[in-house]
Amino acid sequence: MSDQLIDWVAIRQAAIAALDHAYVPYSNYPVGAAALTDDGRIVSGCNIENASYGVTLCAECAMVGDLHMGGGGKLVAFVCVNKDAETIMPCGRCRQLLYEHSAEGMILDTVSGLRTIDQVLPDAFGPRDLEAVASPRKDER
Ligand code: THU
Repeated sequence: MSDQLIDWVAIRQAAIAALDHAYVPYSNYPVGAAALTDDGRIVSGCNIENASYGVTLCAECAMVGDLHMGGGGKLVAFVCVNKDAETIMPCGRCRQLLYEHSAEGMILDTVSGLRTIDQVLPDAFGPRDLEAVASPRKDER
């Protein structure tokens, strides 16, 4: 999708709205994430922390849950924000998460301006790598 056709204001508003739902008793660092899907929906999520810190769900995790609960599809445009509505970068793990669900050429609004998913996660490992080496099933040998 051409960048001109993307309603970045609406996506950003959804990310900001998601901040209100963040559960962040440990870091006190709410994150809101939102994205436009290839069928025109806006999905969103907030971070949800855990007393076992490593179990914390980033906002992108909740957003991908929203994507699938709303019918699936691919992500076309993405932004995430901190509590001051400032753009932040998705963490490394979440770039991988976004890559899995990205439409070809997905655009992210980042601290360095608009970037494609391939720019923020170069040479990514993804589903096609698994397909490339998929071993034949027993009955195909
Ligand atoms: N966080 C996210 O939700 N997404 C990111 O991409 C970066 C980090 C959250 C996790 C944790 O709850 C808080 O920010 C501080 O690391």
